[in-house]
Amino acid sequence: MTAIQPGILEAPAPAGRYLTFSLKHPGDAELKDALQQLAAMSDGRRLVIGIGQSLALRLGAQIPGLRIMPAYVGAGFETPSTPAALLCWLRGEERGVLLQRSRRIEALLKPAFRLVQVLDGFKHGSGRDLTGYEDGTENPDADTAPGVVGVSGQGEGMEGSSFVALQQWEHDFETFETYPHQTQDNMIGRRKSDNEELEDAPASAHVKRTAQESFDPEAFMLRRSLPWAEGNRGGLMFVCFCNTFYAFEAQMKRMTGGEDGVADALFSFSRVLSGAYFWCPGMKEGQLNLSLLKL
Ligand code: HEM
Repeated sequence: MTAIQPGILEAPAPAGRYLTFSLKHPGDAELKDALQQLAAMSDGRRLVIGIGQSLALRLGAQIPGLRIMPAYVGAGFETPSTPAALLCWLRGEERGVLLQRSRRIEALLKPAFRLVQVLDGFKHGSGRDLTGYEDGTENPDADTAPGVVGVSGQGEGMEGSSFVALQQWEHDFETFETYPHQTQDNMIGRRKSDNEELEDAPASAHVKRTAQESFDPEAFMLRRSLPWAEGNRGGLMFVCFCNTFYAFEAQMKRMTGGEDGVADALFSFSRVLSGAYFWCPGMKEGQLNLSLLKL
């Protein structure tokens, strides 16, 4: 019985921690041992695992559809591509628990992997971005999400697997706060006060740029983003799951002005710090299905 890692489909947990790793120069045995220990710890719910392309290549594995995130550029901004070998997304109720779990993960991976970044995410209010706007409204519902997220019909090793794109955005709160409320609503394309969609929002409004059914083919994705904060800096850790990277790339192209020259209004107060793609293996009989990685 194959399944999608359940933490992907579950409602967002109040706390999240994103660990990204690069590879050291491990021998085959050290690398396999570290990954087997990680797999033994992974329930797919409290710990969701993503494999980057460099790790797949190092293991001699072919994951159809896995690649590195493209970099994009638009008028006055760029969105970098910062690939990594491995992603551990920890989910839970409480930040202290996630800290202790992530220390254990770092220790067990240490012979083969270097910890590149740790970022804590948290639920803000009812699930709002730090600008105050409700995030996740147009996500696919529980019935359709598995079809959007899960790969099927591509062989046993791919069954129930998924692809994830992560992008850390940093908001310039001071600039955002200089805009009147109505301008802010027009930048998002929804009203902050009641989350109503604005039919007459400008073409640059974020939800006009990303309207999933307006792409051909349609570009649906399951977003699992969380706000982050460090000192007085903060923004959104944008996270989306799909069964191919098509939806993310179609939306990024339009958001950055690559379709019609109109850039997403998000870029007038927020910037992208990092961007990486990973393949999230499916689950088989309660364990991560790593058969394609030859472990
Ligand atoms: C600073 C970063 C971002 C913020 C603050 C943000 C915020 C929001 C908000 C408030 C909504 C409206 C409510 C909802 O349906 O969730 C929304 C919708 C959406 N966003 Fe974002 N977003 C960000 C980045 C992105 C990126 C990078 C993508 C894709 C590449 C994206 C894709 C979408 C999609 C697909 C929708 C739903 C559109 C629809 O079908 O109506 N967002 N976002």
